[in-house]
Amino acid sequence: MIKILMVASEAAPFAKSGGLGDVVGSLPGALRENECDVAVLLPRYKGVGLSSMRRVYDLLPVWIAGIFYQCSLYLAETSAPFYFLECPQLYGRDGYYGDAAGDYPDNAIRFAVLSRAALAVARRVFRPDIVHCHDWQTGLVPAYLNTVFANDPTYIGTKTLFTIHNLGYQGLFPKSALPAIGLDRRVFHMNGLEFFGKVSCIKAGIVYSDGISTVSRRYAVEIQTEEYGFGLDGVLRERGSKLYGIPNGVDYGNWNPETDPYIAAHYSVDDLAGKAACKRDLVREFGLPQAAMKRPLAGVVSRLTPQKGTELIIEIIPELISQDVSLVLLGSGDAEYETPLREASQAFPEHIAVRFGYDEAVAHKIEAGADMYLMPSQYEPCGLNQVYSLRYGTVPVVRATGGLDDTIEEGTGFKFREYSARSLVAAIRAASAAYQDKDAWKAMMRRGMRKDFSWRVSAAEYAGLYRKLLTARGAA
Ligand code: ADP
Ligand code: GLC
Repeated sequence: MIKILMVASEAAPFAKSGGLGDVVGSLPGALRENECDVAVLLPRYKGVGLSSMRRVYDLLPVWIAGIFYQCSLYLAETSAPFYFLECPQLYGRDGYYGDAAGDYPDNAIRFAVLSRAALAVARRVFRPDIVHCHDWQTGLVPAYLNTVFANDPTYIGTKTLFTIHNLGYQGLFPKSALPAIGLDRRVFHMNGLEFFGKVSCIKAGIVYSDGISTVSRRYAVEIQTEEYGFGLDGVLRERGSKLYGIPNGVDYGNWNPETDPYIAAHYSVDDLAGKAACKRDLVREFGLPQAAMKRPLAGVVSRLTPQKGTELIIEIIPELISQDVSLVLLGSGDAEYETPLREASQAFPEHIAVRFGYDEAVAHKIEAGADMYLMPSQYEPCGLNQVYSLRYGTVPVVRATGGLDDTIEEGTGFKFREYSARSLVAAIRAASAAYQDKDAWKAMMRRGMRKDFSWRVSAAEYAGLYRKLLTARGAA
């Protein structure tokens, strides 16, 4: 048995703002079948209910730069033990990372404390062989292990894996944050965590971890190029021999049209009948006219950010109308995108319907009720919605980048290469033309529904990587 302590800022169903939550929520359970003993550490945000949890540790000693952070631990035993770090002054807020005013100003401390607490958990509660860190919020774990705790006998032989879910979020802070996060100025250099004059938490994870992974094979290659490297491609190329691409798996327990509790009717690859009822329900839910039942209906569930190609979706709305395609969109994020989307829905209520905010039930209804799913991302480390769409017989129309390129093929969806409205329009035109041939369309839906992206294969790959990191034990 390999013992893994995962540290992250999100895990479904407790806290989720995107795919990171899906992955950290479902990977631990899948690893159990691969001779891994996994525990997870997360912050206890205000919205994480404690009623079904046990308080298992009082006064976990977390000291940084002479300040004592009063932390305790709660435990939820679900698919694995999920430990929650309670520190109300840091995490007892509505947002995970920020509020309407922007990122919380103390994020460096909030996630430094999470990272230091992980090492306290590793010492006192769950002794891991590997600490598996996810994204910039936990990038300081390998940095602490290699500096502050480099000579601490507790951690001798403890290895770290740092998984990059999104290189676009880096955890950058002014140099003046260094003392408060308990790191010496000696780490502030090009081969340490300095990044253009700032402290970079993601770079800390990349530079100090024993292994690095990212969430698709294609993205592992892309991030080593200038186009997708966000300024870190050089560092990633240097560490290229330790960089692995392991695609995300999908939890078909949560995303399955045969059992999904959120959708109007169940259906399967052998019996698609229920899908029409789901479309009717979605059309009603979004207040589109009955006529929408006859047209192709495109769906989007997304964080509204530049990454997701939101601007392209806005740009092509007139073209959707002229092709007689309807659109339902559920989005959360940048307010600047909301206004044009809302205006479009007011100008074209027969075709365009939008909703803003985070809504799990509506996300499932869109996956089930739409005919096609749009994902014109600028970049996409893996992407989960296109894979959910496949299972729901909702044909993906995607830009061929990162995980989108790896998971969608001719025959299961429509791909375009150039990041432009023109290329997206051409792909939608091809999809709506295909939609007119009902039998061919159904065959395409079925091919997608038969694809298997369950965790089985990817969890085994993670287990293999953990083993590899451990056999490198003691090596220089
Ligand atoms: P990312 O992590 O970059 O946002 P993914 O495709 O990996 O993209 O995962 C997004 C996850 O977040 C999916 O489970 C999706 O359904 C969910 N999601 C995104 N936006 C919303 C929203 N507004 N409401 C509900 N779920 C959402
Ligand atoms: C990130 C990426 C997304 C990926 C998810 C889970 O948020 O944007 O592509 O699927 O993490 O790894």
